[in-house]
Amino acid sequence: MTTAPACRHAPATMRNREPLLEVLRDALPPLGTVLEIASGTGEHAVFFAPRLVPRGWLPSDIDPLSLESIAAWRALQPAKNLLPPVRLDTLAPSWPPETCPPSPAISAIVAINLIHIAPWAACLGLLAGATRILPPDGVLILYGPFRQGGRHTAPTNAAFDESLRAQNPAWGVRDLEAVAQAASSSGLSLTRTVAMPANNLSVVFTQDRTNTETCREKAKQ
Ligand SMILES: C[S@@+](CC[C@H](N)C(=O)[O-])C[C@H]1O[C@@H](n2cnc3c(N)ncnc32)[C@H](O)[C@@H]1O
Repeated sequence: MTTAPACRHAPATMRNREPLLEVLRDALPPLGTVLEIASGTGEHAVFFAPRLVPRGWLPSDIDPLSLESIAAWRALQPAKNLLPPVRLDTLAPSWPPETCPPSPAISAIVAINLIHIAPWAACLGLLAGATRILPPDGVLILYGPFRQGGRHTAPTNAAFDESLRAQNPAWGVRDLEAVAQAASSSGLSLTRTVAMPANNLSVVFTQDRTNTETCREKAKQ
């Protein structure tokens, strides 16, 4: 396959895309648009979109070179349900799909390998945005390595965590309990944890409307 110069390649996407597809098929609502946060190269987007019809797929990233790569992969492997990428920073108080909602409406948000390779604030921004955007029973799916019970789940994850923190002290493998606690404060309930290859987890949160309203009221006070 000949790829355009803008097409970037992340080898891990080839290894994790099939197990991730299984989780997505199982956990995503049957309809609506999936907003992918931090799409990176765009290789996941072009792989998942045609396999998850009739859902739509909206890729996004904060980084201009990633946006170019996603667009280039989309040009190479178009799918009717794959929308053009949008620039989205999880920290922004409002996200582009809030001002310009896709059709069908967003029913799910997916963030693969984001929250450990970004500051904790990016995770909090992701949870806040998910709470604003998701409909009742909408889902947020995170994928990556997590600590559980205050410990790493494998020596390889501990080494990875060290290398992340050496690159940027604000990065690092997150505690699943801390993420679940922050999600719960935003009105998102942890509903499923799926063990994945290479000591990763897929973690599914569901928008809990009653709890969300309470959280919004508390935030206003
Ligand atoms: C390790 S890459 C993962 C990319 C892709 N999901 C994958 O699994 O190959 C992390 C991505 O997060 C993006 N990112 C970092 N901080 C972000 C933020 N605050 N909002 C949105 N995307 C962000 C980066 O630009 C990068 O593309």
